[in-house]
Amino acid sequence: TTPVPIPHPPGVPILGNVFDMDRVTPLNTFERFAQQYGEIFVLNFLGKEIVVVSSNALAQEVLDERRFFKGARRNALEQIRVLTGDALFTAYHGEENWGIAHRVLVPAFGPASILGMFDDMYDILSQLVLKWERFGPKHAIDPADDFTRLAFDTIAYCAMSYRLNSFYTEGTPPFVEAMGSFLRESGARMTRPSIVQRMMGQTNAKYEQDQRQMMDLAKEIVEDRKQNPNDRKDLLNAMLKGRDPQSGKGLSDVSIMQQMITFLIAGHETTSGFLSFVMYFVIAHPEVYAKLRAEVDSVLGQERMRPEHLGRLPYMVAVMREAMRLKSTIPGYGVEPFQDEIIGGKYLIKKDTNVFVLAINVNRDPKVYGEDANEFKPERMLDGKFEALPPKAWIPFGNGARACIGRGFAWQESQMALATLFQKFDFRFADADYKLQINQTLTIKPKDLRIYAIPRTDTT
Ligand code: HEM
Repeated sequence: TTPVPIPHPPGVPILGNVFDMDRVTPLNTFERFAQQYGEIFVLNFLGKEIVVVSSNALAQEVLDERRFFKGARRNALEQIRVLTGDALFTAYHGEENWGIAHRVLVPAFGPASILGMFDDMYDILSQLVLKWERFGPKHAIDPADDFTRLAFDTIAYCAMSYRLNSFYTEGTPPFVEAMGSFLRESGARMTRPSIVQRMMGQTNAKYEQDQRQMMDLAKEIVEDRKQNPNDRKDLLNAMLKGRDPQSGKGLSDVSIMQQMITFLIAGHETTSGFLSFVMYFVIAHPEVYAKLRAEVDSVLGQERMRPEHLGRLPYMVAVMREAMRLKSTIPGYGVEPFQDEIIGGKYLIKKDTNVFVLAINVNRDPKVYGEDANEFKPERMLDGKFEALPPKAWIPFGNGARACIGRGFAWQESQMALATLFQKFDFRFADADYKLQINQTLTIKPKDLRIYAIPRTDTT
């Protein structure tokens, strides 16, 4: 068969679709084009093409690891790589260190290890609860802000027993500031020609200073642990002591530092945006709210949450899956074909082409989820329906060998946070007419969402 051209928005000569992009929220442009052009379209930026895929049928093809591999070149990940090198998230396909780190870390992120982090996670969570209790019922809380503190501190504490103490720091802790500024600049660099970049002396100096600051802290933590070894079952010990069963090799100190920074990058905004979206959806759907609260009350009652409770909250899990489906905090990710490929029976994807899997759209394919695919209905995730979904129909955590290694970590942390928060507070929108909008960086979050957390009196 002769391939047919992939639909493409016209754009302008040389610059291509540069002016089509919504600079603040690029996702809006992708969604608009997906509506207009359908399950596949191609954009052109200064001659560089990116193919965007939005349907379950095409996702099944481009997420077939025999035909396509994770794309970590010519995209945002390649920018972040200046800091995190070949650590898990930014490694190119097939790099040796990825394999070593993956095999050493998979058990350390496994269910038993994560369960072992329960008390440490609760420690940080109780700081959030205390803060919201002290705020009182009339303080408009920015949930994304405090969930970012929660996620950041939880990873730092569980991964390397380091207390960032964001809840006790006026403003933003320096490490967190450095990471935010580094990630913003990494994103901005994607859009700048290199000649312009070279002239931005101050910006470039700050970029390097931010990286040094993060690496210095990581180094301090590694050296401190080497001088004062302990038996904590955290990720740092797993990396210092672990050997790859396949090659017998361990991780170098630099690699360990890069992995730690990677966990913080990959795990903080994703989790915080996710928890914020769950709050939004639950508050916006009173009937869901009532069911969720009834479940939490019947399982936890007045007790402090314990590990046994985790498996007894099926409705809450359905709410989480449904929120994640509609608002995947990493809205998409890249793949590339090993060789020229035809997908959908007619579209040619040449080797070295960047393909972007728009996960947030694949997750809402009406062919899988029906005409109400855009509505929030946790029922569709209950009673075995989630397990019965077709392959690649719910893909917020990535794909195959390069899927999220922190999924179990994020999930347990989020379950603990949500159960405990709904046990202790009643939530309302601070602005009763709030309409959901998106704030996009590397990840997405609800924009300008403010809530009241009213300590519950009905249960005490
Ligand atoms: C990879 C999503 C939390 C660590 C990924 C990928 C996605 C994802 C979509 C694949 C990206 C790609 O293909 O380029 C999420 C979401 C989270 C979350 C939605 C929270 C709700 C976490 C946490 C950690 C983490 C808490 C660490 C503690 C990683 C790492 C990778 C990864 C290391 C790279 C894995 C590899 O390529 O070997 N995540 N993530 N993530 N995530 Fe997560």
